[in-house]
Amino acid sequence: MTNPVVLITGGLTGIGWATAQAFARQGADVVVSGRHDEEGEALAGELRSAGVRAAYVHTDVRRDDEVRRLVDGTIERFGHLDVAVNNAGTQTPTGPLQEQSPDTYASTFDTNVLGVILSMKHELRAMLPQHRGSIVNVSSVAGHIGMPDAAVYVASKHAVEGLTKSAALETATEGVRVNAVAPGATQTGMLDRYVGTPEGRHAFEDSVPARRFGTPDEIAQAIVFLGSDQASYITGQVVSVDGGYSAR
Ligand SMILES: NC(=O)c1ccc[n+]([C@@H]2O[C@H](COP(=O)([O-])OP(=O)(O)OC[C@H]3O[C@@H](n4cnc5c(N)ncnc54)[C@H](OP(=O)(O)O)[C@@H]3O)[C@@H](O)[C@H]2O)c1
Repeated sequence: MTNPVVLITGGLTGIGWATAQAFARQGADVVVSGRHDEEGEALAGELRSAGVRAAYVHTDVRRDDEVRRLVDGTIERFGHLDVAVNNAGTQTPTGPLQEQSPDTYASTFDTNVLGVILSMKHELRAMLPQHRGSIVNVSSVAGHIGMPDAAVYVASKHAVEGLTKSAALETATEGVRVNAVAPGATQTGMLDRYVGTPEGRHAFEDSVPARRFGTPDEIAQAIVFLGSDQASYITGQVVSVDGGYSAR
């Protein structure tokens, strides 16, 4: 059997980086994408040194042409596409709704929502003719609850969950599954930028039922499972990996 071929957007840091490592440990061929070519080539080189078939493709997920090139390049290099992890995401500066603007909307939605639409569009173009594939979108606990001072980000992640369910219904008879993982607070650069002060960090950590933040690898494990054939009857679902946050 051939190795699964996995593509990851925003794959150079945090959850995307951990997902690349987790799939590599499972013996997958891995295509990482992002916007920093030196770091991307270095990551692909490290994976290859560890015996993994890996490549880096420069991709800003807001750009249709770049996402097209990512998917076409993956097919050219590895022959097929089995798993796509749409992880690239960005934050809105925190603040109440009355401080939001067309710019904060666009800077959030262009990556978090348009980026997922463009990614799924091109991934499905590759997967549907194969009658095989698994897409995992990275949402957030913010994709199904409200959060003060984060309304635009919250709305963007609600959109990711709506897109996930709609795409799953469109593709359920075609051998393609579409799910989302919804991380809670996870120890990455994004969380550091969000929590700010050490006091803010402790208060946020105390608000998690598990009383700790998640690790990127804990999120990656759920992504690997949803991508795998072990999840063959799971589609249109949002799997929360949040230390109990959304159960409150
Ligand atoms: N950490 C958390 O607590 C948490 C909780 C819930 C959900 N999430 C979600 O998890 C995902 C990964 O975030 P993370 O926590 O791992 O933070 P992160 O380390 O900041 O990762 C986000 C990645 O997305 C990339 N990215 C941003 N805009 C992009 C664009 N337009 N095109 C391509 N890549 C882009 C970033 O690269 P650049 O350097 O190029 O910007 C970065 O590598 C995001 O979707 C985030 O919303 C995180």
